[in-house]
Amino acid sequence: MENENKNLMEKIISLSKRRGFIYQGSEVYGGLAGTWDYGPLGVALKNNIKNLWWKMFVDSREDMYGIDAAILMNSEVWKSSGHVDTFTDPLVECTKCKRRFREDQLKEKDVCDDCGGKTGEARQFNMMFATQIGAVEDSSATVYLRPETAQGMFVNFKNVVDSFHPKLPFGLAQIGKAFRNEITPRDFIFRVREFEQMEIEYFLKPADWEKYFEYFRGEMLQWMEIIGIDMNHVHELEVGDGDRAHYSARTVDFEFDFPFGRKELYGLAYRTDFDLKNHGLTYQDEDTNEKITPHVIEPSFGLDRTVLALMASAYTEDTNGEEVRPYLAFKPSVSPVICAVSPLLKNKPELREYAHIVYRMLKDEFGRVMWDDNGNIGKRYRRQDEIGTPWCIVVDFDTLTDDSVTIRDRDTGMQERIKKEDIVDYIKDKLN
Ligand code: GAP
Repeated sequence: MENENKNLMEKIISLSKRRGFIYQGSEVYGGLAGTWDYGPLGVALKNNIKNLWWKMFVDSREDMYGIDAAILMNSEVWKSSGHVDTFTDPLVECTKCKRRFREDQLKEKDVCDDCGGKTGEARQFNMMFATQIGAVEDSSATVYLRPETAQGMFVNFKNVVDSFHPKLPFGLAQIGKAFRNEITPRDFIFRVREFEQMEIEYFLKPADWEKYFEYFRGEMLQWMEIIGIDMNHVHELEVGDGDRAHYSARTVDFEFDFPFGRKELYGLAYRTDFDLKNHGLTYQDEDTNEKITPHVIEPSFGLDRTVLALMASAYTEDTNGEEVRPYLAFKPSVSPVICAVSPLLKNKPELREYAHIVYRMLKDEFGRVMWDDNGNIGKRYRRQDEIGTPWCIVVDFDTLTDDSVTIRDRDTGMQERIKKEDIVDYIKDKLN
């Protein structure tokens, strides 16, 4: 089983690179640890996830307000939020080879993962990336790259209340980059130094926190199901006292059985009034004039971990005799390419011309459509299967006389003949 999982991880990493999902960051210069670059298909996958998330948690709701805050924030934000003092991980150094590790991630306590030497005393290491703003290099010019998108929402709480006058409960939502100087980035895009979060800060009356904690727990589970994460591999973990982040009075982690083990995918936290109180922000009810510091429920979703969980959930292999057919069984709504269009033969102008009309029609309708005339039809199907394209459309000689095309289903390999004018509805029906 361990070997199988190791293989699965290797297959996902190799497919990601070969087919243009994810490349090593700064690869031509030997890479930069803990950074990855998303290629054309990876960007498409991420954008689909972000759009679905925004639709579900912002656009379809009446109580949610979008934010896109600056990544660089006044350092007072991070002093008030507790990150300057407490956003740390325990770091140990090997007394022999001097390599550094996160103490809680060592395979064996007090033993170096690399050389087997003894590790020294742990010291706390702050994970925020500091940089200098402007031309002066002194401590007053130090700013941090945000380690969570959350604070961008807390510091805009009053702005949104003043502009929109929302009634409690309501939420702010944001998708954006976050940065953490992880001591040991590892497991592909699972633990990286630059990543994206999709977060909600939901403000409410203190007495309502349990009700909305349960409510968002349900919403998070529903989200995972909607996008196609394998729910058999999702587990909830009540995070115990002492293990929670400094701001949280209750946390439930949603863990996923990644190929390298069961690890945190998302988190749901009850941040109480910790952040608003520390920033000195309050809310006044316009009807009753009652002034309170709202409490906060925070559903937090890592985008890169979503991509990895989706790829691991979708990766499938069929065997037909000797031949193994790998494919990504993505839901059409997240799949980077909805359909590919091919002329049966590459060198027949009349087929190419017709296929191009079909391609243009579908591209105008769905956007995520690929032209594929490379190699023979079998090779094209295999390539599209590997990147998770749900449908392949082929224009052949019959098309020229009856205006019908073949449409092949990725999962079953079955082909149907349909009229050109019915393709859009055929796909739309299956998308909804
Ligand atoms: N605002 C709350 C917060 O940031 P967190 O549990 O530290 O909480 C939230 O992070 C989510 O961000 C995690 O559940 C995970 O999905 C993602 N995440 C955290 N650190 C990460 C890293 N180094 N690489 C990739 N994703 C990460």
